Amino acid sequence: MTPPPHVPQSTRPLRIGIAGLGTVGSGVVRLLDENAALIARRAGRAIEVTAVAARDATRDRGINLGAVRWHRDAVALANDPDVDAVVEVIGGADGVALELAQASLAAGKPFVTANKAMIAAHGMALAARAEAADIALKFEAAVAGGIPVIKALREGASANRIERVYGILNGTCNFILTAMESRALSFDAALAEAQALGYAEADPGFDIDGVDASHKLAILAAICFSARTDVAGVTVEGIRAISAEDIKEADALGYRIRLIAMAEMQNGALLQYVRPCLVAAEHPLGYVPGCLNAVVAEGNFVGRLFLEGAGAGDGPTASAVVADIIDVARDEYGPAFTMAVGALDALPRADVGHVVGKSYIRLHVADRTGVLAEIAIAMRDAGVSVESLIQRGGTGGEALIVLVTHASDAAAVDGALDTLAQGDALVAPPLRLPILAL
Ligand code: HSE
Repeated sequence: MTPPPHVPQSTRPLRIGIAGLGTVGSGVVRLLDENAALIARRAGRAIEVTAVAARDATRDRGINLGAVRWHRDAVALANDPDVDAVVEVIGGADGVALELAQASLAAGKPFVTANKAMIAAHGMALAARAEAADIALKFEAAVAGGIPVIKALREGASANRIERVYGILNGTCNFILTAMESRALSFDAALAEAQALGYAEADPGFDIDGVDASHKLAILAAICFSARTDVAGVTVEGIRAISAEDIKEADALGYRIRLIAMAEMQNGALLQYVRPCLVAAEHPLGYVPGCLNAVVAEGNFVGRLFLEGAGAGDGPTASAVVADIIDVARDEYGPAFTMAVGALDALPRADVGHVVGKSYIRLHVADRTGVLAEIAIAMRDAGVSVESLIQRGGTGGEALIVLVTHASDAAAVDGALDTLAQGDALVAPPLRLPILAL
């Protein structure tokens, strides 16, 4: 007899195999152990770790692994007869993680992952396999760590047309920018602190160059717009060029600098970018402190949703991974990206170069007669109207000029800056940051 839908198909324990026992994997084991009774009640059945795969079986991780089976080869978890569902927290778009995902789905085993790079790159193919086998593919922890954003948008907001989703998707960058802001740290000192605290990826370039956020954005956009992931369509710029001076000038103008990940529908095309932007100091994103993440989604019936929480760390990430495992235990799943892969839209890319809005421009100029006129002429010739201009300094023959433009086509402003860069007015490359109207 088919059980009623609110009862899991089986009440015997769900046996899971975990690939990767780093910070997140150990956190998953600890959470499943500490909250075992509560989780069993909520899932309707116990969840047991029966196998793990990690390179070093001797390392003390401070967790109780009891009598679990150890595999050196993670892919072996897929075919372990004592594993019903596989959890992957190794990371990396390809390699072992992808092999394990493919092998698990081929073996008919639900697959839970925290792997943003893999889902951004291969999410469509994996979702198609999961769909064909009618099993779960879950990746809550891949976007914004502990914030249940996939669940909120895929399920809670699924009745809405979402026009725009944006936010702070990289905790390391937010930590750096807010530390520069509140404690006047240099970029390098703030990065070193983020690394010491364990927020940064093994390669910090993934964080500070915006790559990590672009993976998360591509996944979010696919969920929000029921579209195929297009990570190559995300225009990415990191935060290396942001100086303490920019943070101070933005503050004086009433703004905060944040690494913003933005996905927006524009006349049927998808605009996706990750780049440092100015947001009004009073916007909720201006208040997101330290390594937290935040996501804003605008739905046509629900209005503006704002979700904030820890985007990294063993506890928050384990919370998201285990929520997915509980869904698997309850047999609660559906199409990974809101609808069957074949029904997802392949959206054309909107042209990020022609986004219209205000810009913040920082120039280091030679402090000589005529420089202001040259700047004004370059702006005029490009059809860019200046809203405000501040000049500071003038010591050592150089001055700092900060301009705010009226809403203009980004390409026009960049054109004016290219013209200036070809002359001898500038003594350093110019910086333009969009000012977001949110
Ligand atoms: N390195 C990431 C961040 C953490 O700083 O947000 C997990 O995605």
